[in-house]
Amino acid sequence: MLDIYTLGEDVLRKECSEIKVFDSALKMLADAMLETLEEADGVGLAGPQVGVSERIFVIHIPDNPPIVFVNPEIIQTSIETSPYEEGCLSIPGVYCNVIRPSAVTIQAQDVTGKPFTLEATGLLARAIQHENDHLHGKLYIDLLSEKDREKAVREYERRNRRHGGRRRK
Ligand code: NI
Repeated sequence: MLDIYTLGEDVLRKECSEIKVFDSALKMLADAMLETLEEADGVGLAGPQVGVSERIFVIHIPDNPPIVFVNPEIIQTSIETSPYEEGCLSIPGVYCNVIRPSAVTIQAQDVTGKPFTLEATGLLARAIQHENDHLHGKLYIDLLSEKDREKAVREYERRNRRHGGRRRK
């Protein structure tokens, strides 16, 4: 199981680097991320959230197979947007309404390096955009108004003041 880094840690704010080697270490990282995601009862987990500043995230939506995205690029987003109450394992206990495109098309590689393209709607489209932002050092609270962001950070601090730094599940 991997440690989950939380709000305030520098690694969450860094641009991630491209993954060039598709070896057993990458497979082990992806597997550990999926296990950590399951243990934390989340929908998605990105490299920086486990201290790895590389372009990888995993998504596991209930009743669907887990998906590993390596070196992803969102190549198309819908004009239509929708609101959704988002949370993040790096900002535990806080949920905010975020408006994003309702559908996206993403290109990525799987854990063996094989490229794939996916058209996503609903929760999958939502999770893809949220996780992809992590790879650019962006968090969903960045998309809120300044007032709502401050409120979210205060709520996070209130809920987590007895825990410092990274969190063990
Ligand atoms: Ni997140």
